[in-house]
Amino acid sequence: MGITILGIESSCDDTAAAIIEDGFLLSSRIAGQEVHKQYGGVVPELASRAHQQNIVPVVDMALKDAFKSRDEISAVAFTKGPGLLGSLLVGASFAKGFALACNIPLIDVNHLQAHVLANFIQKKEQTKILPEFPFLCLLISGGHTQLVIVKDYLDMKIIGQTIDDAAGEAFDKCAKVMGLPYPGGPVIDKYAKLGNPSAYQFSKPRIKNLDFSFSGLKTSFLYFLRDRLRENKNFINDHQYDICASIQKAIVDILIAKLVKASLETGITEIAIAGGVAANSDLRNRLSDEAQQRKWRIFFPEFHYSTDNAAMIAITGYYKFLHNEFASLDISPSARFSI
Ligand code: KG4
Ligand code: ZN
Repeated sequence: MGITILGIESSCDDTAAAIIEDGFLLSSRIAGQEVHKQYGGVVPELASRAHQQNIVPVVDMALKDAFKSRDEISAVAFTKGPGLLGSLLVGASFAKGFALACNIPLIDVNHLQAHVLANFIQKKEQTKILPEFPFLCLLISGGHTQLVIVKDYLDMKIIGQTIDDAAGEAFDKCAKVMGLPYPGGPVIDKYAKLGNPSAYQFSKPRIKNLDFSFSGLKTSFLYFLRDRLRENKNFINDHQYDICASIQKAIVDILIAKLVKASLETGITEIAIAGGVAANSDLRNRLSDEAQQRKWRIFFPEFHYSTDNAAMIAITGYYKFLHNEFASLDISPSARFSI
């Protein structure tokens, strides 16, 4: 019999379950939470309540899609953190109950490692080329922006990270001041396609090492809008597409410049991206061009495995299973911890 892992993800506002068998994805389900849209950001209390409502049906659907019953699951993997504590607790408690009821091992997964390993998600019928170790991964999500050397599935080293906001946060905060809905990244991505990326310029950080900073850009964006709105109170509406294209270009410029620097410094040309911002279409297009010029092999997770999902938790659980890395039933989730 194969190794069949049920993965559970509940670190923020997506309740997700997925099944991986022998390293191949059988099913992946996600229940999003519309409730936060009206607040312009995730409300932790509402998120954990929605996870409680969604987790049983989502796991049920993932099992059904995979044509698996509970007694065919070898182990259950769950997100230990980082994330919102109340949300993490729902996934962790469910996973513990499932492991106890089915008498199978429990596996704790680092959400950030899982984003990186999303690059290994594949279906049986796919002939996907996978990254080879060591590779360089730009991990860009709503809470994190890191450059990571991935030495092996479970052996990763951070060589640069943000000193203030994360890349996803920069997208979300800029969208918010423009009055766009949360999460702002996908909306900016969509509007930017219709605009001119060179219409407006914003200040760039001057950090010499491999760390990132987005707070200066955010402030420069805020002052820019304030000044333009003084001249024309409809400035945002009148120039929405150009503003989105220009701020997106500024964020993507920062990301690509550091990735190039990291590749030159480490000599690694096997390059992957991961995390919600890795879904950005401009970043993907420009990285593909960069890869051609610089002779990089470049890897992206499929769009729906860039943002939060449980397939990445299940694949990480699978590699931990192979390494005999299990958790005890008294394990607690952690809101903060590193890769
Ligand atoms: O990885 P993720 O789903 O959750 C975290 O672990 O944080 O990342 C969410 C972030 C949000 O900030 C969202 O705006 C951003 O990813 N995002 C995007 C796009 N899709 C999601 N940012 C830019 N372009 C996108 N297409
Ligand atoms: Zn995430």
